[in-house]
Amino acid sequence: MDEIQQNAETGKSTGTCTSVVGLHWGDEGKGKVVDLLAAEHDAVVRYNGGANAGHTVVVGGERYALHLVPSGILYPGKLAVVGNGVVVDPEKLIDEMAALEARGVSTESLVVSSRAHVVAPYHKLEDEVREQIASGATGSGAIGTTKRGIGPCYADKAQRASAIRVGDLLRPEMLRARLEVACKFKSTRLAGIDAGDALNPAALTARLASAGEKLRPRVRDTTYLLHDLLAEGKSLLFEGGNATLLDVDHGTYPFVTSSNCTTLGISTGTGVPGRRLDRVVGIMKAYCTRVGGGPMPTEQVNEIGNRIRERGREYGTTTGRPRRCGWLDLVATRYSVMINGVTEVAVMLFDVLTGFEDLQVCTAYNFEGSRTDRFLPDAVDLGQATPVYETLPGFAEEITGARRWQDLPANARGYIEFIERFLGVPVSIISVGPGREQTLVG
Ligand code: GDP
Ligand code: IMO
Ligand code: MG
Repeated sequence: MDEIQQNAETGKSTGTCTSVVGLHWGDEGKGKVVDLLAAEHDAVVRYNGGANAGHTVVVGGERYALHLVPSGILYPGKLAVVGNGVVVDPEKLIDEMAALEARGVSTESLVVSSRAHVVAPYHKLEDEVREQIASGATGSGAIGTTKRGIGPCYADKAQRASAIRVGDLLRPEMLRARLEVACKFKSTRLAGIDAGDALNPAALTARLASAGEKLRPRVRDTTYLLHDLLAEGKSLLFEGGNATLLDVDHGTYPFVTSSNCTTLGISTGTGVPGRRLDRVVGIMKAYCTRVGGGPMPTEQVNEIGNRIRERGREYGTTTGRPRRCGWLDLVATRYSVMINGVTEVAVMLFDVLTGFEDLQVCTAYNFEGSRTDRFLPDAVDLGQATPVYETLPGFAEEITGARRWQDLPANARGYIEFIERFLGVPVSIISVGPGREQTLVG
């Protein structure tokens, strides 16, 4: 008995943990890398964010866009875990699972933490209203959120009185009582808004309890589940939603999301302590993109940015919005490597850079009259920084067919070697197209 408890409670176990985390402002290609690495892990675990994430996986020419369901679901037999740190829109989760089932993908192995917080219809209204108010006359205060109710749900988690958790969905009487309180809070905040049934406790109870019944077989204490798996020697793959520069503490605040997207969020979002991480794979694009508001020093609002957008099909997986595109910001990337404890890097969408005569990479900023090689996470500071570029020679050859290091043109290899030297960590994966097979693994 003592021994069993020790295993479960002290984490003295043998399984390994890998993290996949975005190093930029999202959409770096995390879904593709999770899919690749899922093959050698037993469970894929989401720890943060919610349906604001859009992770694309292309398998055998079929394209899947995953939002709440962990990307490992596409590998039969892998456990897919939605951890306590995720904010779950239950109806969206059910729809996403049904859509996968309709395409022949089994979701049998998916489990959800009873302690994950629930995104309710009023959260999405609050998200809209907050954006409208913040945009004011100039439009400059709007974050450009995904309007999935993420921020308001995390705010309620901290607020407590108006929060609903997945476990509450399974106890209709208690759910009703909690929704009565939540709706009182929300009615003042959403006064004057036509909320329909979104502020009606009876209607909300019926809707959410019905979703809860559908999810009942999947609801677990995922913290003990994950520790039990580790104790059995099983390996876990943590799939970060959103990305480092959108982290609520370490990103370009206030133009961020509302969770800890970095590896630092794994402990709070799953109950697995940070010291368990063996391998941290940082995912970066060969250039930079951003969706929504906030500073982006290397943004190219010109033919260069347009060319990247069209070659990279840089339109949001979740909202369809055109992504802002620009040169690779290595100052920001090196900051993210530091924050996450990255042990290796995957360079994605490298094929998009074919055809540029020169490639610019940002290696420092000019800020307040001097040069710095440190990132400036405060949005006001970063907005005043101007990039200092180094110019590297481009490559004309299409590289989508490359499968080995030697297949890459010399200038493409030089670009990757420059990244490795600057970041001080090895590049272990190079992606040259969306398909599973369009990958060089070092
Ligand atoms: P995530 O949110 O980090 O999982 O990334 P998204 O799925 O939102 O965006 C990445 C997009 O790039 C998806 O459409 C992928 O299919 C695509 N993609 C991934 N790797 C590559 C690559 O190496 N080359 C190209 N051209 N597309 C890629
Ligand atoms: P994946 O996992 C890109 C951005 C939004 C907005 C800000 C806050 O696909 O990389 P939110 O709805 O979270 O309150 O929006 O964060 N954002 C993302 N941008 N990829 C994502 O996820 C994002 N998740 C949030 O565009 O600027
Ligand atoms: Mg995405």
